Amino acid sequence: MTLQEEIKRRRTFAVIAHPDAGKTTLTEKLLLFGGAIHVAGAVKSNKIKKGATSDFMEIERQRGISVATSVMGFEYEGVKINILDTPGHEDFAEDTYRTLSAVDSVIIVIDGAKGVESQTRKLMEVCRMRSTPVMVFINKLDRPAKEPFDLLDEVERELKIRVRPLAFPIASGPDFKGVYNLYEKNLTLFTTIDRQTANAEKVEISDLASTEIDEYIGEKFANRLRDDVELVEGVYDEFDREAYLRGELAPVFFGSAVNNFGVRELLECFIQIAPSPRGAHTETRDVLPDEPKMTGFVFKIHANMDPNHRDRIAFMKICSGVFERNKNYLHVRSGKQLKFSSPTAFMAEKKSVIDEAYPGDIVGLHDTGNFKIGDTFTEGEKLRFTGIPSFSPEQFRYIENADPMKFKQLSKGVDQLMDEGVAQLFISSLNGRKIIGTVGQLQFEVIQYRLEHEYNASCRWEPISIYKACWIDSDNQEQLADFKRRKHTNMAVDKHGRDVFLADTSYALALAQENFKDIRFHFTSEF
Ligand code: G4P
Repeated sequence: MTLQEEIKRRRTFAVIAHPDAGKTTLTEKLLLFGGAIHVAGAVKSNKIKKGATSDFMEIERQRGISVATSVMGFEYEGVKINILDTPGHEDFAEDTYRTLSAVDSVIIVIDGAKGVESQTRKLMEVCRMRSTPVMVFINKLDRPAKEPFDLLDEVERELKIRVRPLAFPIASGPDFKGVYNLYEKNLTLFTTIDRQTANAEKVEISDLASTEIDEYIGEKFANRLRDDVELVEGVYDEFDREAYLRGELAPVFFGSAVNNFGVRELLECFIQIAPSPRGAHTETRDVLPDEPKMTGFVFKIHANMDPNHRDRIAFMKICSGVFERNKNYLHVRSGKQLKFSSPTAFMAEKKSVIDEAYPGDIVGLHDTGNFKIGDTFTEGEKLRFTGIPSFSPEQFRYIENADPMKFKQLSKGVDQLMDEGVAQLFISSLNGRKIIGTVGQLQFEVIQYRLEHEYNASCRWEPISIYKACWIDSDNQEQLADFKRRKHTNMAVDKHGRDVFLADTSYALALAQENFKDIRFHFTSEF
C-alpha cells in the first residue's frame, strides 16, 4: 500500500464525555463491533471513582490499566481505527486536553437524561480551539430521556455548534422503540435480547408513509416518527460534510451504548465521514501527512509505577512519512539522534513491537526520563509542533521539601512529573518558592504519593490563595515592566521562564485587565 493509501484509511479519534455519560461503554462497544474484543467487559473502566481518592492502590491499578487502554487500534472494513482513551476523572482533564491534540476528530457522548454537562462544555471548548470535527452520540435512550428536539437545541446552544441529526429516536425509556437512520433511511428496532452481541434487527423503510412501519412500532409511534422526520427535514439543512470537517457542524446520533444500540450506525457513518490524518501546525510551517519524511510529537508520557523499573512510555503521534524501527531520528529539543529498537503499537488490549507506523498512528517509545510533552522527532528538520498547550491551572499549593536529606530526589521527581504533564510548576517572584498548579485536587495526592514511591522523596503542601494563573505579555514593554513592578508579589515564572500573573481573585484579575489595557492575559500557555 502506498503512503497515501495508508493515510487515507486511518481514523484517529477520541471519545469524550462528562463522567458517567457512557464513554467507556461506547468505546468498548466500538471495539466489539470492530472485532477487536469478543465479549463486553474486556476493557476495564479506567475511571477513578469519586470517593476513592485516597485509595492509591486503586489509582495505581487504574493507571496500569490505562496504559493498556491508552490507545486502542483495530481494523474495521479496511479502515485502521485508532481510539485514544482519555481519563474519566475530571481532575485529569489536562491529560484529556493534551490527548485531543493528537486526534483528528472526536465523538462526544451525552447522557440523554442529563443533557450537556459541565465537563462536556469544557472539552468542547478545546475542540473548538483546534476546529476538531465532532460527532455527538446521545446515549441511554433505554432510560427516560429529554425530548430529542430539546436535546438537539441544548447541544447547539451549550456546545455552540450547529447540529444535524443523522438518526432519530422513537420515544425513550420503557417506550423506546428504536432509531430511524436518516442517512440510510432504515429503522433499527430496539430489542434488549441482543445486549451482548453485535446484531440488532434492522428494517429498510423505503417510504415512511407506508403502513409497513406501523406493524413494527404501532400506529401511534409510526405517526410520531413521520412528524418528527418531517420536522427534522424542514428545520435542518442537508448534512454538510465540509462544515463537519471544519468543526462547524456536528452530526448527531441516538442510541444506548450498553445495549449495543445505535453503535453500529455511528461507526458505519464515522468511517465514511470522519477525517483521515490532516496537516499539523509547527512554529515554522504546516506539515502534511503525505510528506515522505517522518515527523511526530509526544503528547503523553506514562511512567511505570514500579520503582525498580523507572522507565516510561512516551506516546508519539506520527504526523507525516513512515516511522521505522531502528532508524535514527532527530530529537529536536536535545539535538540528539535517537533510534528505537522496540517501538510499540497498541492493538485492542495488546501491545506489540512494530516495524513501521503511518501518519495517524500512535507509537509507544521507551523513555528513560529524557522526553517531555511536546517533544518533536524528525529526520533532521528543526520543527516544533504547536497546539499542545498547557491550560491555566485552577488549584495551587506551595510544595516544600519534607526531608532535608532528600532534596535532590525531590527536585528530580518534581521535574520529571512536570515533564510528564502531571501538573505545572511556577516559581514565585516574591519569595522564590515553588508553586504547583493543577486542574484538580487529586493531583496533589498523586504527586505526593508518586514522589514517595518512585523518587524516594517526601513533600509537604502549604496553602496559597490564588484564583488563577495566567501568562502575560505585551508589545508595550514600559507597561509590562510597570505591571510586573506593581504586582511583584503576584508574579511568578513558569518552567520556560515566562511571566505568569497569579491573580488572588476574579476581581483582581478583572481589575488588572481593566487597568492595563496593553497587556494580554492568556489562559493557555500557547499564544
Ligand atoms: P464513563 O466512561 O463515561 O464514565 O461511563 P461508563 O461507560 O462507565 O458508564 C457509566 C454508567 O452508565 C455505567 O453504569 C454504564 O453501565 C451505564 N451506561 C452506559 N451506557 C448506558 C446506556 O445506554 N443505558 C443505560 N441505562 N446505562 C448505560 P454503572 O452502574 O456505573 O456501572 P456498571 O456497573 O453498569 O458497569
